[in-house]
Amino acid sequence: MTPDLLEAGAVKRQQYQAKVEASNSSGGRAAAFGRVLTPGLPDFAHGVALYLDEVTVSFDGFKALNSLSLTINLGELRCIIGPNGAGKTTMMDVITGKTRPDKGSVTYGQNIDLLRLRENEIAGIGIGRKFQKPTVFEQLTVFENLELAQQADRSPRASLWSRLSGAQLDQIAEILTLIHLLGAAQIQAGLLSHGQKQWLEIGMLLMQSPTLLLLDEPVAGMTDEETERTAELFLSLEGKHSLVVVEHDMAFVDQLTQGCKQVTVLHEGSVLAEGLLSEVQANERVVEVYLGR
Ligand SMILES: Nc1ncnc2c1ncn2[C@@H]1O[C@H](COP(=O)(O)OP(=O)(O)OP(=O)(O)O)[C@@H](O)[C@H]1O
Ligand SMILES: [Mg+2]
Repeated sequence: MTPDLLEAGAVKRQQYQAKVEASNSSGGRAAAFGRVLTPGLPDFAHGVALYLDEVTVSFDGFKALNSLSLTINLGELRCIIGPNGAGKTTMMDVITGKTRPDKGSVTYGQNIDLLRLRENEIAGIGIGRKFQKPTVFEQLTVFENLELAQQADRSPRASLWSRLSGAQLDQIAEILTLIHLLGAAQIQAGLLSHGQKQWLEIGMLLMQSPTLLLLDEPVAGMTDEETERTAELFLSLEGKHSLVVVEHDMAFVDQLTQGCKQVTVLHEGSVLAEGLLSEVQANERVVEVYLGR
């Protein structure tokens, strides 16, 4: 732990609590990182992190998801591809409680019915979500963003009186290293590049040690180098977390799957194909609806 990290850890919470409130990020953001009491602990004994069974979502009669079934195993890195409008983001909306399906079930582990939980409860039992646009607190430093994401209790009282423990500082340092921002810990998040902001947001999600991470087009707008580093980051997370990565960038998907992982192709709200990237790329129906556009 470097001295300036320690110093940053001692920053009075009330100083940046005010900044958080003035920050340009959405009000629900801090809440989404918050831990909440939940009805029970997820049971992962069977190695399944998430199970969607025949999930249907209709918008004015249009089926954005059409009897979608999908299983994500514990520690698995699963790439999901599909043309615009295939239902990829809607699927994440359903898993995180933002959208309620008309039909079907969504089970976390083998026992938690996610359809019965609210968005903040779902975030609190280990499901983190990264939206396409980075949503970090621009006026806070990188360190402060991670510190805030780490706090279980964000009430003003807790913010005023709590001090970071050695273990908490170690966790922040570990995540800073992982997301390539150790040297930028004291920089205001608003000054980071687009790619660095994306990494910071991923780091903020990791502070909560999520079991399942949902990442919607995480490398959109990144440089080639940033994209490659992001793939390395995700590969290093594989096994420790389940990752569901929605992406259009096939070179990135190729790097993530390393020629040996299953890719899921969504089309019109259902699974069109599943297999190695090379297999789905050679699948005529996939070529027709997606790759051949
Ligand atoms: N709130 C909504 N109201 C009405 N229609 C919606 C709503 N959300 C999504 N849709 C429609 O549902 C379909 C699936 O959208 P979704 O955003 O899930 O697709 P996607 O696979 O994420 O596409 P993209 O690759 O462009 O991000 C689209 O036709 C979209 O217009
Ligand atoms: Mg989308």
